[in-house]
Amino acid sequence: MALRFEVLGRFNRARAAQLTLPHFVCQTPLFMPVGTQGTIKGLTTDQLEEIGCQIILGNTYHLALRPTSELIDELGGLHKFINWPRALLTDSGGFQMVSLLHLADITEKGVTFQSPVDGKPMLLTPEESIQIQNRIGADIIMALDDVVRTTITGPRIEEAMYRTLRWVDRCIAAHKRPHEQNLFGIVQGGLDPVLRDICVRGLVDRNLPGYAIGGLAGGEDKDSFWRVVAQCTAALPEDKPRYVMGVGYPLDIVVCSALGADMYDCVYPTRTARFGTALVPEGVLKLKHNAMVNDTRPIDPKCACMVCKNYTRAYIHCLVTKDAMGSQLLSYHNLYYMLQLSRNLHSSIVEGRFPEFVCDFLQKMFPKGD
Ligand code: GUN
Ligand code: ZN
Repeated sequence: MALRFEVLGRFNRARAAQLTLPHFVCQTPLFMPVGTQGTIKGLTTDQLEEIGCQIILGNTYHLALRPTSELIDELGGLHKFINWPRALLTDSGGFQMVSLLHLADITEKGVTFQSPVDGKPMLLTPEESIQIQNRIGADIIMALDDVVRTTITGPRIEEAMYRTLRWVDRCIAAHKRPHEQNLFGIVQGGLDPVLRDICVRGLVDRNLPGYAIGGLAGGEDKDSFWRVVAQCTAALPEDKPRYVMGVGYPLDIVVCSALGADMYDCVYPTRTARFGTALVPEGVLKLKHNAMVNDTRPIDPKCACMVCKNYTRAYIHCLVTKDAMGSQLLSYHNLYYMLQLSRNLHSSIVEGRFPEFVCDFLQKMFPKGD
C-alpha cells in the first residue's frame, strides 16, 4: 500500500481526512479536475497549484493513444512529462472507451474498440490497462471495470458486476508497483442493492488501498444515485478512501460528502466554462447572456480567485465566444470554486460546523426553498 488515510474529523457519516499519497498530502473531501490528455484544458500547472489543486486525473485511454505510455515512461513518467509535482490519478480506460466510442465491445478478455487512429480493432485487457498505468506512474490507478449504464436493466448488470470482480483479480496480479502506486477497485452493480452489496464485499475481501463507486451519474434519478452511494459508503471500510467516479455537480459533492464519500472527479466545471457558464453560490451565471454586456461586477463578488479580483463580467462576456481567454478565465474560476467548496467541506467537518455549512450552501443555491 502506498497511501495513508487519517480521518481528522467526522460529522455523522461525513468525514474530513488527510490522504497521504506518494507525490502529495491531500485533504478530503477532495475534488479532482479532469485533464484528459494529462493537462487541464486552458490552465497551466502553475495556475493549478495557485488555486490549491492537490490531484488531477488523467485518462489511460487518451494517454495510451497519444503520446503513448511507452513514451511517457521513457520521458520519466507523467508527473515529469506534464510538469505536475503533486498527485495524479489515472482511470483505467474502459469507461472512456464505452462512453466515447459507441463501437466498443466488451468480452471476458477485455474491451475491444476501433482505434481512432487507424480504425483497426484493438483490445484493452485488465493486464494491459495496469501495464499502461504502471508506465504512466500516477499515485492512484484504477482497476479495469465493466461499466453499464444504470438506466439499463436485466442480466447484463449482473454479468458486468461479476466480471468487474474477476477483472480486479487480473488487475491485482498484473500490478507491478504496489509500493509506488495505489490500485483502487470499483464497485459496480447498477441500481440493484443486492448486486452492489456482493460487489462491495468482494472488493473489500481483496483488501485494496481504496475503493471507488462507479456506474453512476449516467442518467439515473438523484434519489437512486444517492441511495447507491449511501449503501456503498456504509459498507466500505472506515479507514480507506471512497471515491465516487464522474461526480459531479456542487450539490452532488455536498450530498455525497454527507453520505461519507471522500473523492470526486468531473469534467463539468471546465466543460461548462467552455460553454460560457460560471459556477457561483447561487447556481450558475451565464456569461453569454446579454445582461452581462455592461455588468462591471466580477463573476462572484465574494470569490477570492484571480479572475474575480481582476476582471468584470462585461469583459468575460466580450471574450467568451471570440477568444480562448474567455473559457480559460471561466475554467480558472470554476475550478477555484470547486476546490474552495472541497476546502470548506473539509474545514467545516473538522471544526464541527458541517450542518451549518450545508444549510448555508443549500439556502444560497435554493433561496425559495424548492
Ligand atoms: N468514470 C465515471 N464513472 C466511471 C466508472 O463507472 N468506471 C470507470 N472506470 N470510470 C468512470
Ligand atoms: Zn472567482
